[in-house]
Amino acid sequence: MATTATRPGQERPRARIPAKTLRNDRWWLPPLVTVVGLTAWVAYATVRVFMHRWYWVEDYHYLTPFYSPCVTERCLPDAAHFGRFLPGWWIIPDAALTLPFLLLFRLSCYYYRKAYYRSFWLSPPACAVPDAHRRYTGETRFPLILQNAHRYTFYAAFLIAAINTYDVVLSFRSLSGFGLGLGNVILVGNIVMLWAYTLSCHSCRHIIGGRLKHFSVHPVRYRLWTFVSALNARHMQLAWITLGTLAVTDFYIMAVSAGWFGDLRFIN
Ligand code: FES
Repeated sequence: MATTATRPGQERPRARIPAKTLRNDRWWLPPLVTVVGLTAWVAYATVRVFMHRWYWVEDYHYLTPFYSPCVTERCLPDAAHFGRFLPGWWIIPDAALTLPFLLLFRLSCYYYRKAYYRSFWLSPPACAVPDAHRRYTGETRFPLILQNAHRYTFYAAFLIAAINTYDVVLSFRSLSGFGLGLGNVILVGNIVMLWAYTLSCHSCRHIIGGRLKHFSVHPVRYRLWTFVSALNARHMQLAWITLGTLAVTDFYIMAVSAGWFGDLRFIN
């Protein structure tokens, strides 16, 4: 009997194959790695966001991206580059203005959608492995239809990357003028990767090169589109790399701020 495909709103029986799947490779490994990796990262980030300390290194002006911009009354004055206008309640993250948008940006990202649909929702866990759910409605209904708003979260992420860049520029000021330490190297590495991930977004690629009839009359957009397309081909890798650089950057700044070890200084 031929296998039948199931479309949104349409229920058709699967081919009568007694085995759950005919795949005999380790198809379960990528979803498992995804679950472990994302769970560990979300757990770390949640703890850090609600820790409300060790986010700022006074001497070298290092601010962790998890607290940027710091906008609650609880923020240290020197770390609050854009004012402290939100109440300092424990439940409010100090970067409450940006974190929700970053969360939505990543949650609705085309790559992460694939990753968590497969690994957490098992829909389906892998190619040629049956869906764990009886019905499949795709992203045609609430709440998943909201995923289509991803392009708007891209604009927010772009602005936030600009704010993070500003933080990195400020971090080159030490107590005696210009300074350079390992913290700067880590912050620069992180922001470069964040820009690469943000610009590699599928929505960004469409904003730059979409809706054009002829690239020949838009040479600048064509060049930008070519650049963004090259990044876009590595979107999955950049999604994971930035989770790593964000965690490393935050941990390093926490450690220096807490006095667990000093910053390795090259200049001043
Ligand atoms: S598609 Fe992944 S960030 Fe836009």
